[in-house]
Amino acid sequence: MEYNNVLVEIEDKVALVTINRPKQLNALNAETISELSNCFETLEQNKSVRAILLTGSGEKSFVAGADIKEFASFGKEQGAELSRRGHNQLFNKVENLTKPVIALINGFALGGGLELAMSCHYRFASENAKLGLPEVGLGVIPGYGGTQRLPQLVGKGRAMEMIFTAKMVSAKEACEMGLVNDVVAPDDLLELGKKSAKAITRNSGNAIAEAIKAVNAGYEFQNHGLEKEIEHFGNCFGTPEFKEGTGAFLEKRKPNFD
Ligand code: CAA
Repeated sequence: MEYNNVLVEIEDKVALVTINRPKQLNALNAETISELSNCFETLEQNKSVRAILLTGSGEKSFVAGADIKEFASFGKEQGAELSRRGHNQLFNKVENLTKPVIALINGFALGGGLELAMSCHYRFASENAKLGLPEVGLGVIPGYGGTQRLPQLVGKGRAMEMIFTAKMVSAKEACEMGLVNDVVAPDDLLELGKKSAKAITRNSGNAIAEAIKAVNAGYEFQNHGLEKEIEHFGNCFGTPEFKEGTGAFLEKRKPNFD
């Protein structure tokens, strides 16, 4: 598998997928989303793969979000379409993949980055990781499933606090609230992921696929919420506050929402 922004290695039935745009802190542009989509489809078909690890390249970032430069000029319809395409191409696909996907959060997991990690079946983080949904600081809401999957993982109150304040939490705090399962030193993160994936490969792949379907079925009622997220995400696009928020990021200044 050859991609511009994604690296894939397969060893001992475990695939390691690395998002590789380190200069942009692995931000998810359309090409990366499309490559990841293709990569997960291919790995699902590959009978020699039983578990998948997903991480970001470099020491600084897992994924710093959707690529703000790509959508800053979008209006309402394009915004909703961006969200819908993301759900269909990648985020729902990862969640429903019939092989376990474990996120290894090696640094910033912000916005679409945390949303991607939350689409994975579970998550480990390194001690330097920082997690958050900073979208409201850009004049928009989380649009890749964050409004639904964060409350599932940490409860409605904590999720609303994180979404409204746009604050980042440390790996330790994320672990305490159930957002990640374990935290280790940066150098030990890959080993922890491999150990967990190895344990998976010793069990019945068929039974695990059925377990994923059964667990996810319990959350199907929230599909309505995902539809509403697309609508409300789109509503934010093109507004004066959206232009101020995204413009401030591009101009490297603080936004003014007074
Ligand atoms: N989109 C596009 N480019 C990004 C990016 C993003 N989400 N995050 C970082 N980059 C780029 C920066 O623009 C910068 O590029 P240049 O060198 O060309 O200027 C490069 O990556 C390095 O970033 P910084 O210089 O900003 O690095 P820093 O260490 O000073 O700050 C950071 C790190 C706090 C993560 C900061 O980059 C940041 O705040 N990034 C944006 C985080 C964010 O708001 N994510 C949410 C995106 S919206 C979203 O995801 C919507 C959705 O739900 C669908």
